[in-house]
Amino acid sequence: MSKYKNLSAVERAARIIYLNKTCYNGLFRVNSQGQFNVPFGRYKKPNILDEDVLKAVSKYLNKPQVKLLNLDFAEAVKKAKKGDFLYFDPPYDPVSDTASFTGYDANGFNRNQQERLKEVVDDLTQRGCRVMLSNSQTDFIMDLYQDYQDKIHIVKAARNINSKGLKRGKVNEIIVLNFSV
Ligand SMILES: C[S@@+](CC[C@H](N)C(=O)[O-])C[C@H]1O[C@@H](n2cnc3c(N)ncnc32)[C@H](O)[C@@H]1O
Repeated sequence: MSKYKNLSAVERAARIIYLNKTCYNGLFRVNSQGQFNVPFGRYKKPNILDEDVLKAVSKYLNKPQVKLLNLDFAEAVKKAKKGDFLYFDPPYDPVSDTASFTGYDANGFNRNQQERLKEVVDDLTQRGCRVMLSNSQTDFIMDLYQDYQDKIHIVKAARNINSKGLKRGKVNEIIVLNFSV
């Protein structure tokens, strides 16, 4: 970890890309110390350096109107104004107790966090913002967003990334909107 901290930003980015392209299913997961801890994947010829894609993404992210924030969601949306569109893609609520995917990152993202996020969605709704949010279709999430139930869309998402307890294949996901389409 201390070695990683001494790397330049470009070296760190290269390390993450290499790990992402060679680890199990491209999963991103860190342990309680914030260190990458995904097992290695089985790839015959991982495409680690995709120059065209890297350059295109770099060009896009460097546009003056693109701003990347590394903040808690409540903080990140504080300045949202009436008419703004916001999309939340939080760590998903686990679909079963065995699929405890709550250790998604060093801080975890448990049901209290899901409830806190719902309060932020309510606040943005009152402020006149347009909100879209995705999550898994669990009883807990359906219940949490019942105020928006006529604006919940169920989608069958093909999942490539799953924790152990979660079966691969189609898993119902929900899209919650605070406006009608
Ligand atoms: C389902 S992933 C989003 C994936 C992303 N949409 C993409 O396509 O790469 C959930 C993300 O929420 C982030 N996250 C966890 N806790 C957060 C918090 N309190 N505030 C903001 N983001 C958080 C995680 O680090 C993770 O990157």
